[in-house]
Amino acid sequence: MVEVIDDGPGIGAEAAGRVFERFYRADPSRSRERGGSGLGLAIASTITEGHGGRLELETRPAQGCVFRCVLPGGH
Ligand SMILES: Nc1ncnc2c1ncn2[C@@H]1O[C@H](COP(=O)(O)OP(=O)(O)O)[C@@H](O)[C@H]1O
Ligand SMILES: [Mg+2]
Repeated sequence: MVEVIDDGPGIGAEAAGRVFERFYRADPSRSRERGGSGLGLAIASTITEGHGGRLELETRPAQGCVFRCVLPGGH
């Protein structure tokens, strides 16, 4: 398991259900300024699932995000 934790603005409940969709941006105007395509999390979750794992998001609105990459153990 790998966790990536930040103390940014977090992601609201409605957006949290959609951020793994391709091209979804929670705040289009701000994201365009940053050059965001809305593809990062879709790519990360597709790769994780391709390895038999899953990518989870724990929402902490106004406190930040916890992204958790859970992969099966090797034997
Ligand atoms: N760590 C984060 N904190 C707050 N919002 C985030 C974070 N990561 C992603 N988001 C939101 O989810 C949307 C999709 O993210 P992502 O798939 O990584 O797109 P991009 O490829 O543009 O970075 C972003 O537009 C942003 O609104
Ligand atoms: Mg991104």
